[in-house]
Amino acid sequence: MLIKEGHYLLIIIFLYIIVLGYAKYVVSQNIDGLHLKSGLLRQYVSEVHGNMFTMKCNKCKRSYVSKTAVKTVGQRCLNIKCFGKNKNGHQCRGILYDTILDWEHQLPIEELELSELHSKMADLCICLGTSLQIQPINLVPFNAKKNKGKVVICNLQKTNCDRKADLVIHTYVDDLMMSLMKILGVDIDKYDEIKDPTNINHEITDWSIYETDLKKVREIKRNTTKSKKRKKSETKFPNPESETESPHTNQILKPSKISKLNNIDNIIK
Ligand SMILES: *[C@@H]1O[C@H](CO)[C@@H](O)[C@H](O)[C@H]1NC(C)=O
Repeated sequence: MLIKEGHYLLIIIFLYIIVLGYAKYVVSQNIDGLHLKSGLLRQYVSEVHGNMFTMKCNKCKRSYVSKTAVKTVGQRCLNIKCFGKNKNGHQCRGILYDTILDWEHQLPIEELELSELHSKMADLCICLGTSLQIQPINLVPFNAKKNKGKVVICNLQKTNCDRKADLVIHTYVDDLMMSLMKILGVDIDKYDEIKDPTNINHEITDWSIYETDLKKVREIKRNTTKSKKRKKSETKFPNPESETESPHTNQILKPSKISKLNNIDNIIK
C-alpha cells in the first residue's frame, strides 16, 4: 500500500478531528495526496504546493482527482482531455495538467487565499511536521495571532519560527497526535477504500475550488471579524492577562522533557 503507516495515521486523525469539530481546516504542503486518501472533503483542505493525485484543466480551470499518481511534476501537460462540460453542455476542450509546483511557480491563488482566510479566523493553528522554511506559507499560521489566536509547532527539529510560537514541542508528530486522540477519546478507524477518491472504483471526483465557495468563506471571515470587533467594544474592562501577553513567553519542550511527563495533558494545557 502507498500509504506510510505514520503519515497514514496522521491523515486519518485529521479526518476524525474535523468530523468531530475539533479542527476546522487543513493546509497541506505535502504533495503525496494522503489527504485525498483519507476521504477529507475539498472544503476542508488547501493543498498549497499541489498534489500528485490531482489534475487541472488549462481552459476551464477545474480540478479532478486522478486514480493514479500523475506522471509529471511542475505543472506539465498530461495529455488527458478535461472531463468537464461548459455551460452549453458541451465537452470542455481543455487539457489536464499536473498541479505540482516547481520552485519558480507561484502558489495557487485560491488555495493560498483559503489558507489565509482560515488562519485569520483560527483560535489555534497547529503546525505539524514542518520546518516552516518555505515561504510564503510558513507565515500563514501566524495570521492567527492577529486575532489573539495561538500557534503551536510540533516538529522533531527546531524550526525557523519557534520563537514566534506560543508552544513548541520537539517530538514525533504521530506520537503527539496519538496522545491527543487518546485525551479527546477519539478512536482511529482503519483506512476506508470507499471514502478514497483515488480508489479505482470511485467515480471521477471534482476537486475544483469554485468562486462561490471562496465567496462563502470570505463572507464567513467578514462576519467573524465583525462579531469579534463587536465583542471587543462590548468589553468595558479588558482582561489584564491578555494585555500583558508577550510574544516571547513561548515554552519550548524538548523530547527529553516530554517523555518525563506521564500525562500529555500537561503539555496541552
Ligand atoms: C453573515 O452575516 C449576515 C448578516 O448577519 C448573514 O445574513 C449571513 O448569512 C452571514 N453569512 C455567513 C456565511 O455566515
